[in-house]
Amino acid sequence: MEKEKPIGVFDSGIGGLTVVKRIASTLPNEDIVYFGDTARVPYGSKSNSTVIEYSIQDAKFLINKNVKAIVVACNTSSSIALKELRKQFNVPIIGMIEPGAKYALKETRNGRIGVIGTRATISNKAYSTEIKKLNPEVEVFEKACPLFVPLAEEGWIKHKAVYDIAEEYLKELREKKIDTLVLGCTHYPILSEVIQEVIGSDVKLVDSGISSAESVKFELDRIGLNTNKFSPGNQDYFVSDIPVKFKEVAELFLGREVSQIQKVELEALLP
Ligand code: DGL
Repeated sequence: MEKEKPIGVFDSGIGGLTVVKRIASTLPNEDIVYFGDTARVPYGSKSNSTVIEYSIQDAKFLINKNVKAIVVACNTSSSIALKELRKQFNVPIIGMIEPGAKYALKETRNGRIGVIGTRATISNKAYSTEIKKLNPEVEVFEKACPLFVPLAEEGWIKHKAVYDIAEEYLKELREKKIDTLVLGCTHYPILSEVIQEVIGSDVKLVDSGISSAESVKFELDRIGLNTNKFSPGNQDYFVSDIPVKFKEVAELFLGREVSQIQKVELEALLP
């Protein structure tokens, strides 16, 4: 039955597990199939055409797993490939940008919003375009913070180096007197304690994983595709490579144990 199909979630790597964590707590009875393109991560420094090509292959993998909806749990893919994915696949496709933008607009009091993300997300102005589409009065200040990705993967949650780098990246946004900061990359919630300390406790952090999980719930409710099950949902994890330290880092991102991870050969993704 359509309702009992899993939700598909993909990311360039393991960062999307922070989004899975949010979906699983918002929709605890839904089954989830996750695909992380760990062999080809990062997407954040690649060209738009490559990100689109890889995102289509990732979505096709999930479609072949018979999913009822796809969550693009990667801000970079959401920024660049969402339109093309919606054109090519006939299931609801939920990205990170629109939900995150709406959440930020709900939170801001002074109309000054900061956004941090990968180089690709920031140079495509994905968040500022979406936020300004919804409210042209608001001012948006964006900053690429590429070094946060390897630091999160290293598990350096509160390391001195993270404070130093955050200080360097965020001083510009602090000077802009923002009152809301969008964590526009799946890795950044791992570093949220340091980011909060450095940007200041009066700035509201927006975890786009939370808003995108809410959007998935809203969409499934709207089209009547939520599961009828009352038992906890199953989660299946697929990745295109299993790097050293993978399990440790995946568990840090997901916030609990990952038992079974299956490797997919890259050739199986290619058209
Ligand atoms: N998952 C990516 C994002 O949210 C970060 C890692 C990458 O560059 O691929 O933008």
